[in-house]
Amino acid sequence: MLIDGHGRRVNYLRVSVTERCNFRCQYCMPEKPFSWVPRENLLSFEELFVFMKVAMDEGVTKIRITGGEPLLREDLDTFIRMISEYKSDIDLALTTNAYLLYESAQKLKDAGLKRLNISLDSLKPEVAQKIAQKDVLAKVLKGIDKALEVGLGVKINMVPMKGINDDEILDILEYCKKKNIKVRFIEYMENSHATQTIEGMHGKEILAKVKEGHVLKALGREGASPSFNYMLEDGTEFGLIDPHKHDFCESCNRIRLTAEGFLIPCLYFDEAMSIRESVKKGDIEGASKVLAKVLADKPKENRWNEADNGGENEASTRAFYETGG
Ligand code: GTP
Ligand code: 5AD
Ligand code: SF4
Repeated sequence: MLIDGHGRRVNYLRVSVTERCNFRCQYCMPEKPFSWVPRENLLSFEELFVFMKVAMDEGVTKIRITGGEPLLREDLDTFIRMISEYKSDIDLALTTNAYLLYESAQKLKDAGLKRLNISLDSLKPEVAQKIAQKDVLAKVLKGIDKALEVGLGVKINMVPMKGINDDEILDILEYCKKKNIKVRFIEYMENSHATQTIEGMHGKEILAKVKEGHVLKALGREGASPSFNYMLEDGTEFGLIDPHKHDFCESCNRIRLTAEGFLIPCLYFDEAMSIRESVKKGDIEGASKVLAKVLADKPKENRWNEADNGGENEASTRAFYETGG
């Protein structure tokens, strides 16, 4: 079992396979980064897998593949298959913008993928285009339908932003209700890479919008998930991820691995340690030592809650496209 320095059990590994993305979302990567990590710096699937096996052997039961946009990485289904064949009961999921999903959904399912979390911030083509800086909506919606058709579990993530898509909260909820999928509304997390004029919505404001059309019942948090769940009058469930309140940090169960081999103990902070040298040498003991050190140093909580303490929300310098959110 993996236990961190604050006594929390860590069983969830998020693995980013690329920082590259085919979208330029305003809240994440509005411009192409000054320099991409050169392709030769990326760890191969085999190298990433050396570490992942160590993590699974020591207690990781849930793996989520992220990016950037993970479907940009060639032969991703081969990687998925490596993981699912090593541990068939692993909770194996992927977070994607769904742009390339129509073409790949069946292959991913066949390789052993179980679930997808998909970003969907608007149902209006021109608003989706404004957010992603590309005309994406039609392909994304086709991708979602294909994933449902092949039998993959699907959840939707929406980041509501004032003056951009804050009038679509009820529409996204209705869309998900019709398709029988769960949506989680995520508070915008301030970060220095995003468009700086973005104004996110506080969880309370998001809930107020939902209440304009529905009666809500609070259900609570599911295990260590950052999502707090609610139920509508007809039984439909949705979630709210509110990092500014950050009460989920006390049960945080996750660590993140980047495509270059940095092991990141918390989404908010710049701290990281590399497993690169160990996995390149196939040094399992070395990889295990880095994992133990990162767990020992995992921070207690993020720092997005400054406004609640009378200040401005503190922005993170960590890029979401590196960590995969
Ligand atoms: P499930 O397995 O479906 O519970 O997925 P998940 O919520 O772990 O994954 P997903 O990639 O959909 O994450 C949703 C978003 O929640 C992330 O992109 C982040 O924006 C936010 N989030 C996830 N984990 C953390 C965390 O540890 N801290 C903070 N602040 N936000 C997180
Ligand atoms: N704030 C909140 N959520 C974000 N995501 C990316 N950047 C941010 C941010 N600044 C979310 C996306 C996607 C997931 C991977 O991370 O909505 O669903
Ligand atoms: Fe790409 Fe996801 Fe970042 Fe949007 S949020 S730019 S889809 S990595």
